[in-house]
Amino acid sequence: MRTSSLAAMIHSLNSVAMGEKKADIVLKNCKLVNVYSREIISGSDIAILKDRIAYVGADVSHAIGEKTVVMDLEERFVTPGFADSHIHIDQFVLPSEFAKKALLCGTTSLFSDPIDIVSVCGYKGFKEFIRFGENLPIRLFHVIPGGLPVDRKFSHTKTLSSTEEKLALNLQNILGLGEVFSWTKVTMKDPKTMQTLKNMIENNCIINGHTAGASDKKLNAYISSGILSCHEPIDYDQVIERLRLGMWIMMREGSIRRDLDKIIPNILTHKTYLDRLMFCSDGVNPKDLLEFGLIDHCIRESIALGMDKIDAISIASKNCFDYYNMGRDYGGIAPGKVADILVFDDLDKLKPKKVFVGGRLVVSHGEIVAKFGIPKIPTWITKTVKTKRKFLEKDFVIKSLAKSVQSLVIRLDTEIITKKDYEDLPTRDGNVIPAYDKDVWKVAAIDRTFGSGKFTVGFLKNFGADIGAFGSTQSFHENDMIVIGSNEKDMAFVANKLTYLQGGIIAVKNQKILSVYSLPIAGLISKLPFENALLEFLNLKAKIVDAGCKFKNPHLIPLFLPFLALPEVRILYSGIVDVKNRSYIDILNQ
Ligand SMILES: [Fe+2]
Repeated sequence: MRTSSLAAMIHSLNSVAMGEKKADIVLKNCKLVNVYSREIISGSDIAILKDRIAYVGADVSHAIGEKTVVMDLEERFVTPGFADSHIHIDQFVLPSEFAKKALLCGTTSLFSDPIDIVSVCGYKGFKEFIRFGENLPIRLFHVIPGGLPVDRKFSHTKTLSSTEEKLALNLQNILGLGEVFSWTKVTMKDPKTMQTLKNMIENNCIINGHTAGASDKKLNAYISSGILSCHEPIDYDQVIERLRLGMWIMMREGSIRRDLDKIIPNILTHKTYLDRLMFCSDGVNPKDLLEFGLIDHCIRESIALGMDKIDAISIASKNCFDYYNMGRDYGGIAPGKVADILVFDDLDKLKPKKVFVGGRLVVSHGEIVAKFGIPKIPTWITKTVKTKRKFLEKDFVIKSLAKSVQSLVIRLDTEIITKKDYEDLPTRDGNVIPAYDKDVWKVAAIDRTFGSGKFTVGFLKNFGADIGAFGSTQSFHENDMIVIGSNEKDMAFVANKLTYLQGGIIAVKNQKILSVYSLPIAGLISKLPFENALLEFLNLKAKIVDAGCKFKNPHLIPLFLPFLALPEVRILYSGIVDVKNRSYIDILNQ
């Protein structure tokens, strides 16, 4: 959604405030949550002209004319729209479908970091993704992904060149650089990373950080490079260490991690300064978005943990815009600000009755009333799964002449964290085979971005489900195709089917599809309406969990298997990587 220029509006806003010109909309009798004065003010009136607020006070009658729409809010609570300070929405469903649910939860601004669409489609995908969100009745701001490639030694993802980064800064609603990881690229002064940071600083852009595991010297070096915020602190100690060094903190509560209960109680005990805190989700899956909500959930959770309601609402609105240097236009209900306004019956349930974005009513009586256009999806973005070959059973063979062989296995401790382990595995006809009794599976990572035809096969322990194979084209942030299998035939079937579908997550047994969640846009995003995509997602999860998978969120396993920023061993199409030693490892000890 476009925002008017305040410079172009100052005469007319001034005139409405003075009563010389009449407002378009007036909201009367509000219980206004004022995030600037930390008060709730009964009997407040608000006058809106076009997309901005002209007047806030006790009596708006001077701004009401014949054509003014007057809404009596009968002492309902009115707050600024909520903002998710860091979210990845280039996954699961289209931005338009995500936006509908976010608005119903009162989140009117999303600060998006489209890492994965860039890792698959480069600058072309970045521009297209921004276009997807351009005319939606929600505010979408973006940062240029700052972490790609994750590790130059192993990653093969697409990224933006220095020239493209400069061009991107001229696109609409681009605010700066997204989470800069791995932080070692900064402490080791990687030339491209340092050049990008310099460009951002010279252009007065914000730079978001990612400092998991950094402290003292390394953290200081990272922050001294102009990086302003971090969403990785998982407890109070990490929050306060970063606040002391001048960082802003995005407290995370989303599908990947939920950190508020480790942070908020200590913040309250220590009376920590709140103005440099924000909320973020870092991404939510469709199920969690419906079940928990978005930034409304962060507010409810913080209040439940003891935080004052006005403080929680300020963290969810004003603080985020102050961080992004947008406080003159956004973040609170005051003259000159854009009219992103929520109306609530109560601040406990926090379910908005009405939502205004830029003075336009987008939610009424808890229902979406704004029109959402159908985004035009270019064909090229639905043809990104380039495996180059038809996979055969023999492609997943791991050769050995021995009767049995000791092999490295990637042991799943959680869906996300892996450990190096070793198992004695049997062979059949010169092929090391998965061992059902030991819960050892084959796992393959396949290049699906560049069409090189390259892939790596290894072993995975602890998956647990009684199925033939499970595969996905969605993996942070390498986006290799990952296939996990109890037999080579089903693995080949899955790899070929995902190529045919041009993306998705799929479970198969005896070459029959048990369940599929199609993700044809860049192999990451569904084309379907939210409810249909949700059904596919839930069905897929249920099929694998019901088949005995040891983990509740099996879709996270392929998502994280190539993710180089976490311990201990990862698989990419170029090989199996020991993360700590930063080296490729052979799997067979023979
Ligand atoms: Fe993130």
